[in-house]
Amino acid sequence: MQLIEKAGEMQKISEELRTAGKTIGFVPTMGFLHSGHLSLVDAARERCNTVIVSIYVNPTQFSPSEDFKQYPKDMERDLKLCKGHGTDFVFVPDDMEMYPNGFETEVKPGNIAADLEGRFRPTHFQGVATIVAKLFNIVKPHIAFFGQKDFQQSLVVKRMAQDLNFDLEIEVCPIVREPDGLAMSSRNTYLSAEERKAALVLYKAIQLAKEMVAKDERNAAAIEEKLHNFISAEKRAKIDYIAVRDCNNLKRIEKIEEGKAVLLLAVRIGKTRLIDNELLGEEK
Ligand code: PAF
Repeated sequence: MQLIEKAGEMQKISEELRTAGKTIGFVPTMGFLHSGHLSLVDAARERCNTVIVSIYVNPTQFSPSEDFKQYPKDMERDLKLCKGHGTDFVFVPDDMEMYPNGFETEVKPGNIAADLEGRFRPTHFQGVATIVAKLFNIVKPHIAFFGQKDFQQSLVVKRMAQDLNFDLEIEVCPIVREPDGLAMSSRNTYLSAEERKAALVLYKAIQLAKEMVAKDERNAAAIEEKLHNFISAEKRAKIDYIAVRDCNNLKRIEKIEEGKAVLLLAVRIGKTRLIDNELLGEEK
């Protein structure tokens, strides 16, 4: 496994790999890797000859009040995990490499980014789209792997790739959960023992929604209301949003139709903001 710090060097390697007929699988990350990230690396390993992981905590996707400075890091451990999962190259640029003096061009996503996360983190997706576009141009992947955990992010990236004619495939891989159901996230490490217990309310709410759908509840507002009451009963939880939306464009829906709806949750437990989601009405 090779460590690459410079964008120019990474671009050159990727170009050579492409010329040699290799399929490049790319997993962009902000590090502090967990089994969710590693499932993406495994998926890339399975489908591609060459696996490139990037580790870069992108400052432009955090607002000044967010956790950029305290975002957890453990490069040594991350590199061991990447190696153990068959990564060929790890791209680890610094801020000057990604945002050198004079940098002023950004990618501004449209409606897909406006609501939900966009309402609570108005500059977030512009930062994500910009860094992902840069990484795509540097790593030149054939397939890029993203986690379903960041559901809206995956739609923003897909839209961007289509609108800006990136010649690649986006594969979205399933959420990986802790044994008790909590969706894996680097931010789970912020939770105290009590908060960790309280955080399970997201997974339990998802189960409740699935039970309602299984009993033929198809009304989106009824599910949102029931979940609102359920999550509000957890005293450590503060709801940012509970939304049942069209899973292709995140538009509001009245009724859940088969294979078309997603439940999205954003809940703060203490100071930690957690998101989770589940496709609803799917044949499983
Ligand atoms: O999902 C993430 O970890 C980040 O948003 C990404 C895609 C690596 C961009 O910084």
